[in-house]
Amino acid sequence: MPTILDVYERTFAKDLKLSQKASQLFPDGVTHDGRQMSPFPIYITRAEGAYKWGVDDNVFIDYWAGHGALLLGHNPPEIVKATTAQMLLGTHYGACHPLELEWGELITELVPSAERVRFVSSGTEATLMAIRLARTFTQKNKVLKFEGHFHGWHDSVIMGAHKPYDAPIPGVPQEILDYTVQSPPNDIDAVEKLLKTDEDIGCVILEPTGASFGTIPTNGEFLKQLRELTLDYGVVLIFDEVITGFRVAPGGAQGYYNVTPDLTTLAKIVAGGLPGGALVGKKEILELISVDAEEEGLKMPHPGTFNANPVSASAGIEMLKIVKTGKPNEIANLMAQKLRDKLNEVIDSYKLDWVIYGEFSGIRFLVGHGEKDLRTKDFDPYTWDYRKLKENNDPELLKSLRCGLLLNGIDLASNGGMTTAAHSDEDITRTVDAFERTVDMMRVDGLILNS
Ligand SMILES: Cc1ncc(COP(=O)(O)O)c(C=O)c1O
Repeated sequence: MPTILDVYERTFAKDLKLSQKASQLFPDGVTHDGRQMSPFPIYITRAEGAYKWGVDDNVFIDYWAGHGALLLGHNPPEIVKATTAQMLLGTHYGACHPLELEWGELITELVPSAERVRFVSSGTEATLMAIRLARTFTQKNKVLKFEGHFHGWHDSVIMGAHKPYDAPIPGVPQEILDYTVQSPPNDIDAVEKLLKTDEDIGCVILEPTGASFGTIPTNGEFLKQLRELTLDYGVVLIFDEVITGFRVAPGGAQGYYNVTPDLTTLAKIVAGGLPGGALVGKKEILELISVDAEEEGLKMPHPGTFNANPVSASAGIEMLKIVKTGKPNEIANLMAQKLRDKLNEVIDSYKLDWVIYGEFSGIRFLVGHGEKDLRTKDFDPYTWDYRKLKENNDPELLKSLRCGLLLNGIDLASNGGMTTAAHSDEDITRTVDAFERTVDMMRVDGLILNS
């Protein structure tokens, strides 16, 4: 009897060939760590709404949502129209252009902390700039971050993004790592202790709904405490809203929880699904990029070839106009809630020691995590041991689950996924059916014991 992995290899034979060729070109055969997949990834040739199609024209319901950048699903007509028109008008002026004003105005209208805006090209660039400016502003050098939180891959923040959280990072000198201080998440006393004992901490950065979009969730109460504490200690508070910005609510997590940080990093949705990002925040901090800051010797140099690229600007404007209505968040959040509930019903009916959790449009898997009866124990990810939440899936189970789901037409990422406003009730039903069929296949493979 062929296993899921045998069928996967046979069904996606063309993808296997492409991945073999790719491994001669790219490390791991991929172009982003998160796209690495065992035994090999699938290849996509086109996408529309909630769907994407593979090399054999087989269709998948997509829960990657462009690494979170696609709140409206693939190819929303407004964005296609605007970007196509902009392409004909030019892709790069090497000059100021009116679209950047409209884009910036929409951001300041939506994001409570945005007194000033500076465009960049990615989330990594936005967090890099936030930290540099916070250092310039406070004249303090250290960054306080939280275990498990991800802020891009530059030297100041990559430590602790993955387990083990205190491991050194190859290629980052220890002297630089020493400037990053880590706290366990959701522990305000631990943060206060660090701020009290280390006067060189200049900023606190966090994902405001918790590590990896709520994989280790945080709540509004903690955000409020953090706001008070950072004000007391004269430390810059940075919300990394690269994912949560416009995904949680039109005003981001800060709008939803009514907590205003000093600086906010944005990317993904802000550029309408095209490359782009922004650092926004307090005027007095952002103005340190201005030539006026030269007088005091404080100007932060900031060029960037693709800053406020006109094509990204045209996409970002259309996206934010739609975000402003509040509808996309409503739909995406509702679809995720339905999906989480229904997947957990399947888990219960098969009496599996698995759990699906998440907030807003997030879907998080805990599969083969070694705990018994989590579902009946009223599992609460906020209070559960945070070290067991992220990267705690059984790799063999996960591999078969992902391959089985792809065979059944569903593309979920390794720890879950995200919904968009393009997902429908019918997509949710099809996804739940596919999940059930996959669980059955895993049972036949002997990966799940009969209950
Ligand atoms: C919260 C957060 N910050 C920063 C980044 C880095 O963004 P980028 O991949 O655009 O560099 C990401 C990317 O997933 C992210 O999720």
